[in-house]
Amino acid sequence: MEIKPISGALGAEVSGIDLKEELSNSESADIHAAFLEHHVLFFRDQHLSPQQEIRFTRIFGEPDIYPFQKGLPEAPEVIEILKTETDERNFGGSWHSDTTYLETPALGSVLSALEVPEYGGDTLFANMALAYDALSDGMKQALEGLVGINSSDGPYRGGRQAVMAKLDGMKDTYQTEAKVYVSEHPVVRTHPETGRKAIYVNSSHTKRFKDMTEAESKPLIDFLCQHAVRPEFTCRFRWTPGALAVWDNRCTQHHALNDYAGKRRRMQRATIKGDRPF
Ligand code: OGA
Ligand code: MN
Repeated sequence: MEIKPISGALGAEVSGIDLKEELSNSESADIHAAFLEHHVLFFRDQHLSPQQEIRFTRIFGEPDIYPFQKGLPEAPEVIEILKTETDERNFGGSWHSDTTYLETPALGSVLSALEVPEYGGDTLFANMALAYDALSDGMKQALEGLVGINSSDGPYRGGRQAVMAKLDGMKDTYQTEAKVYVSEHPVVRTHPETGRKAIYVNSSHTKRFKDMTEAESKPLIDFLCQHAVRPEFTCRFRWTPGALAVWDNRCTQHHALNDYAGKRRRMQRATIKGDRPF
């Protein structure tokens, strides 16, 4: 197995391993250690079935249900992410960490490419621990103890359901009975496995600081969101059929680029259960 970083900020491509096979304990331990070191791992030409993708998530934690899309009948913790030729909006098309509006947001997610455009539809990732480290001591002190209010309706003008209902690719699996989730989390969280601090605010879900108005919160939230995704904190993954990515939501954000109008992109995603941020 070979592990090669793809940028100076985060992300590594892992080769020389077939994830369809049962992994040994030491292979699983090496992958887990690489995940903690690089925050997002990429594997090519894997073509995993939903069940194989679920098995892979168990290296990192337990599979979990995503509240807004119906899972596959054979694997409820796996959702299909489809953008059709006629869809204008895409899923995950702004910077975010997954499900920060839940009390226990996803630890990470595993995404596999089923059908990808010839070019376009890359995913960007950003390292929130690096972004935190680059803040001044004064700003780090100012953020100490601040709590963010995260809402699932954040990026959806007119409500999540109204937007999702318009997407040909996603509307059939949308959970119409899903509610609006709102949760409070520290603005700086400590990674439970590495002890590293990371910015835990994102422009898609973080509405305001606790005990402050949106207007009062906005300047600092805007600064943190822009700072967090400075180019030198990011990497970019170009998908190929069968490629797989696993990212650590506790210390990264990601952004699905929407630059493939008129083309089809179909992915399958498994969610990994997380714990309460502190
Ligand atoms: C996700 C997501 C990114 C992509 O699965 O959580 O944001 O590139 N997807 O499809
Ligand atoms: Mn996402």
